Amino acid sequence: MIDGYDKVTRPPLNHFNFHLARGDTTLLQMPIYASFEVVRLTEKATQPKIVVTPPGPKARELLKKDADVLSGSVVRWYPLVAESGSGCIVKDVDGNEFIDFNSGLVVLAVGHSHPRVVKAIKEQAEKLIHYSWTDFYYKPIIDFGERLIEITPGTYPKKVFFSNSGAEANEAAMKAARWHTRKPLFLAYTGAFHGRTFATMSLTASKPVQRRHFFPLVPEVTHVPYPYCYRCPFGLKYPECDMWCVDFIEEEVLKKFHPPEDTAAMFIEPIQGEGGYVVPPEDYFQRLKKILDKYGILMVDDEIQSGMGRSGKWFAIEHWGVIPDIITCSKALASGLPIGATISKSEIMDWEGGSHANTFGGNPVACNAGLQVIDIIKEERLLENATRQGTYLMRRLKEMQQKYAIIGDVRGKGLMIGVELVKNAETKEPASDEIIDVMNKCFKRGLAIITAGKSTMRFAPPLIITKELIDAGLNIFEGAVREVSAELK
Ligand SMILES: Cc1ncc(COP(=O)(O)O)c(C=O)c1O
Repeated sequence: MIDGYDKVTRPPLNHFNFHLARGDTTLLQMPIYASFEVVRLTEKATQPKIVVTPPGPKARELLKKDADVLSGSVVRWYPLVAESGSGCIVKDVDGNEFIDFNSGLVVLAVGHSHPRVVKAIKEQAEKLIHYSWTDFYYKPIIDFGERLIEITPGTYPKKVFFSNSGAEANEAAMKAARWHTRKPLFLAYTGAFHGRTFATMSLTASKPVQRRHFFPLVPEVTHVPYPYCYRCPFGLKYPECDMWCVDFIEEEVLKKFHPPEDTAAMFIEPIQGEGGYVVPPEDYFQRLKKILDKYGILMVDDEIQSGMGRSGKWFAIEHWGVIPDIITCSKALASGLPIGATISKSEIMDWEGGSHANTFGGNPVACNAGLQVIDIIKEERLLENATRQGTYLMRRLKEMQQKYAIIGDVRGKGLMIGVELVKNAETKEPASDEIIDVMNKCFKRGLAIITAGKSTMRFAPPLIITKELIDAGLNIFEGAVREVSAELK
């Protein structure tokens, strides 16, 4: 069916810009193209279904209103106007059904509207929707806290602070680290993404647009190069480099201008997410943790994108066998309901009453959904599925890399896989325009997938993904890569 797609009329390339500029009505004036042969989706869908080239008429109507009503500070990937979702499929308002390889921005680990999560939400909503844990008490938040303590690395006593989002979870980690250590400074990585509140934006260093015109930020954050071996910032090669990037932190940063005695914590992403799905070498974090411990600097492990089974382990840092001091989670925690959690050694959360709180964090409905997410991941053996399907996906992508010079690098763990596109395998010039073309073609053919970094496609389907859906998605992806590669020559 996907091959058949090539035979039907379709919009010219670049027909719409993936970044829908505010007020840009050209998109809305696009003609509607004929649909092509489709397979009806069921719960056990193995193919996407495109009935009208997206955005269809209903979607266009909503896009117009959206541009009038909603803040222009956000960037949309492409005009997917979602109406419903089931499992690994997201359906738009015109009836198109897409295989969801981005899991709603890496949130829907157990898939769209998992029946057990829906039931848990309904049941809790009928009982108690809200009662502010920072002022009173309720059971679901205690239960959920206990479960998070169980599944996070480290057997030491832990405490949990609940909030509403990833940025808030990191914000709490920053405050807890400062409060506990009484030290002002932080370390973070270039390419990092930790959120967009003022404090977390000060850690974030992945795109200028995220900081432009917002200065001054929270001072005293130093960024060091992420171990991005495909594009080593030091121009070295692993393993001959002997990981100079770790020693650099000690020799050139801590010993020269960023006194460890004043450094509260270092924020890490075990697999850099927004920065391009970058995976550090095998023994990297062990070496880093040793240095941090030597100087009494806390390691804050941001698992907001990589956690809750995405990498085939509950938390990606487990691949390195390192036990962080603080872990932050959000996104997949409650399969779509807003919640953030900051889990730390008990001794770190020694802050006094009133020093940090919020109204809505750890909402009982979200906690009840989160409890189900943990049970589902266990009972449906989703860590195993993430590893199994991730291995298969990686193998297929590596095979593609042999066929298409535009695929410069394939890397990842479990179902967190990045495919970096380059214009030239030698110079590694990022194929930034080409990747947008690939992404837009995928979208029009029924695959919802997004990019990361300068030119990396991120593969992050729900952990319940099947081989059949991976194959269907990859057929679409390969078709798009083939066409874009041919145009590049
Ligand atoms: C690693 C990481 N940390 C923090 C955040 C911020 O989370 P939120 O958007 O919920 O504030 C994100 C979001 O993409 C993320 O990927």
